[in-house]
Amino acid sequence: MIRLPGLIDPHVHLREPGAIHKEDYDSGTASALAGGVTMVLAMPNTKPPIFDADTLDLALQAASQKARCDYAQYLGAGPDNADVVASLAPRAAALKMYLDSTFGQLRLDDMSLWMEHFRKWPGETPIVTHSESHAMGAAILMAHLYDKPIHIAHISLREEVLLIKAAKERGVQVTCEVCPHHLFLSSGGIPLSPAGDDCCADGLSAGRAEVRPRLATRADVESLWENLDVIDCFATDHAPHTSLEKDGESPPPGFPGLETLLPLLLTAVQEGRLTLEQLLEKSVVNPGRIFNLPVQPETWVEVDEKARYEIKSAELHSRCGWTPFEGWQVQGRVTRVVLRGREAYKDGRVLVEPGFGRNVRG
Ligand code: DOR
Ligand code: ZN
Repeated sequence: MIRLPGLIDPHVHLREPGAIHKEDYDSGTASALAGGVTMVLAMPNTKPPIFDADTLDLALQAASQKARCDYAQYLGAGPDNADVVASLAPRAAALKMYLDSTFGQLRLDDMSLWMEHFRKWPGETPIVTHSESHAMGAAILMAHLYDKPIHIAHISLREEVLLIKAAKERGVQVTCEVCPHHLFLSSGGIPLSPAGDDCCADGLSAGRAEVRPRLATRADVESLWENLDVIDCFATDHAPHTSLEKDGESPPPGFPGLETLLPLLLTAVQEGRLTLEQLLEKSVVNPGRIFNLPVQPETWVEVDEKARYEIKSAELHSRCGWTPFEGWQVQGRVTRVVLRGREAYKDGRVLVEPGFGRNVRG
C-alpha cells in the first residue's frame, strides 16, 4: 500500500445546473473520490452558463448541498461581463475563456473581447483558456501584453507544447495542463472495429471518440510525453455525456475521466514512463500553487500499487455510464480515501454524504 496526498483536478464538468441527467455535483464528486481526487474545479459551460452573481449563486447553492469532495466553481468570460466577473474573482476557482468551439454557448471570437477580460481580471488566479493551435498563440501574447497569468487547458499538439516551452523560457507567465486521454489515446493507426466501419480512434466509435480538443496524432502524443517537464498539471477535463448521447445522432464531445486518471498514471509509473514524483507534482503541488488553493488537512489516498485489474464502466460512479478506457488493463487501485479526517471512500463505496464537500473559496 502507498499513501498519496489527495489529488486536485483543475478541470471538470459537473453539468449542474442544466444537464444533471449527465452528472451533477453529487455523482461527479462521488466519481472524484473514487478516483482519489479530493478537490475539483468545476467549469462554467452549464445551462445557464456561470457568468454573473446570480448564476454563480445558483451553482454554489447546488454544490453546498450536493458536493462530497471539496470544490471551487469557475466563472465564464462572456462578451460583456468583464467587470462583473472581475468583481466576483475571490469567490471563483478562476476565469474560463472559450476561444475555440466546444460544448455549450460560451465562446469569444473577437480579440477585443479577450482584451477586456485580460485588462480587468485581477490576476491572483490565471485566466484559463480553451485555445487550440494559433488561438493559443494569440492568447499567450494577450496575457503577456496585459502582464496576467494564463493557464492553457488541455494541450494536445506538439506545436502547442513547443510554443509554451519557448514562452516559459522567455519568462512569460504561462502554465498548462494535459488530459490523460491526450496522453493515452490517439487519432489513428489503430485497427478499425471488426465490422470495419464507424471506428476512428483507438477502437472507439466515431461518436464516442468525439472530444475537444480532438484526439491527436501519435507524433503529437509522443511529443507531449517527451516534454512532460513543460506540462504543469494533469487535468481530466471530465466531460460526461451519457452513452446514449455518445451513440446517438449528434454525439456531443467529451470523455469522463475522474476515475481513470490515477490508475492510468500509476500504470505509466509502473512502466517507467513517469515518476511518482512527477505524478504528484502535476496532480497536487502545481494545481495547488497555480490556482492558489488551500492545503486539505488530514487528507490522503491509499493505493494498492500491486493490484492489476480491468477498467469496467459498470464499476464507475459517474452518471454517464461509459469510459473510453473500457477493458484497459491497469495497475494501481485506489482502496481508501480520507478527506479532512473522514473516511470518504473505501473499497468501491463512497462513504461521505452529499454536502460534506467544502467550497475552498467559501
Ligand atoms: O470535449 C469537450 N467537452 N471539450 C470541452 O472543452 C468541453 C467538454 C464538455 O463540456 O462537454
Ligand atoms: Zn473542459
